[in-house]
Amino acid sequence: MEPSVIALLVSAGGIVVLLIFVYVTFLLCPAAYLRAYNWYQRRKLGLVTRFSHSGSYRFCYFTSVTPAVNTPSLLLLHGFSATKDMWLPLIKYLPKNQHVVAMDMPGHGGTARTVDDNYSIECQVTRVHQFVQSIGLDKSPFHLVGTSMGGNVAGVYAARYPTYLSNVTLICPAGLVYPKDSEFVTLLKELEGSQNTDSIPLIPTTVQEYENMMRLCFHKSLNLPRPVLRGLLSERIPNNGFYKEVFMELIHEESRHSLQENLNLITTPLQVIWGKEDKLLDVSGTTVVQAVLPNCRVELLDNCGHSVSMERPRKAAKLIMDFMSVGEVNNLDVKKHS
Ligand SMILES: *[C@@H]1O[C@H](CO)[C@@H](O)[C@H](O)[C@H]1NC(C)=O
Ligand SMILES: *[C@@H]1O[C@H](CO)[C@@H](O)[C@H](O)[C@H]1NC(C)=O
Repeated sequence: MEPSVIALLVSAGGIVVLLIFVYVTFLLCPAAYLRAYNWYQRRKLGLVTRFSHSGSYRFCYFTSVTPAVNTPSLLLLHGFSATKDMWLPLIKYLPKNQHVVAMDMPGHGGTARTVDDNYSIECQVTRVHQFVQSIGLDKSPFHLVGTSMGGNVAGVYAARYPTYLSNVTLICPAGLVYPKDSEFVTLLKELEGSQNTDSIPLIPTTVQEYENMMRLCFHKSLNLPRPVLRGLLSERIPNNGFYKEVFMELIHEESRHSLQENLNLITTPLQVIWGKEDKLLDVSGTTVVQAVLPNCRVELLDNCGHSVSMERPRKAAKLIMDFMSVGEVNNLDVKKHS
């Protein structure tokens, strides 16, 4: 054979070996791939990861490199046991010049996890405000967006610190008195009845439980291969003690209905976005918000469960931007559903 043919075969073989290597490591440590992918996404979207401090407490966040110009900054608060990276799919659909900040919530991601911290909604609100001050977001009103636990925090933040906000968007927020029990709440009530705290549906310890959690969080099944599920689960397990501590605090009577109890104090223009097929927090939560705040704008999304920023990122991004610019066009009450 000619040397060039041999070289070709060798390099082709090399590529096959490389592909097999990539595939096997993907199956064995999907979390590493996810981290690499998220790093790449942040880079592509012009986001940089930074740290800020309030006293000795450390916050981790990412932010657009270019500062806010025409529109208020967006501050994004993620849900229980997630990290700021959950917003990347949504940020992809925001205008390039929209200034955005996503923080890791207390104890989550790169934000400090201290032994004596309190994860009640009130204490998280205080932490978020410390964060806001630590990066100078308090200089002009910003648009606060929170989902699930982060939605509970965002709503209570709006009640406590109205002068700092231009608008607030709650995506499937926790902390309400839902007229209808979701599948998750039904499971939770059964657990509470049996005093069993070892199998909380959002704190999986086995692949089976992890699959169940995914099923609760998404409308459409993701059908991930088992080795991938195992890898993603193994990333969560070291945090399970912490997750449990936070979870118990969130369902404690102090925090369980924090948003509900503070709705009447919200004066900031409010937008509520909800997946119609949410199995974690029932979409009927919108009605109790509307009962207290009839002027809030409610947007219900078809074919969408709890993970709005992953299942309908484009739509959610558009709704948020539209809400931000409503007053600039006219002051008419706009359509209530999408
Ligand atoms: C956390 O703070 C709340 C008040 O916001 C309090 O009721 C609760 O007992 C505290 N939890 C712990 C573990 O200290
Ligand atoms: C959201 O805030 C912006 C900026 O302050 C304002 O122009 C707009 O009218 C607000 N949206 C709504 C629906 O009030």
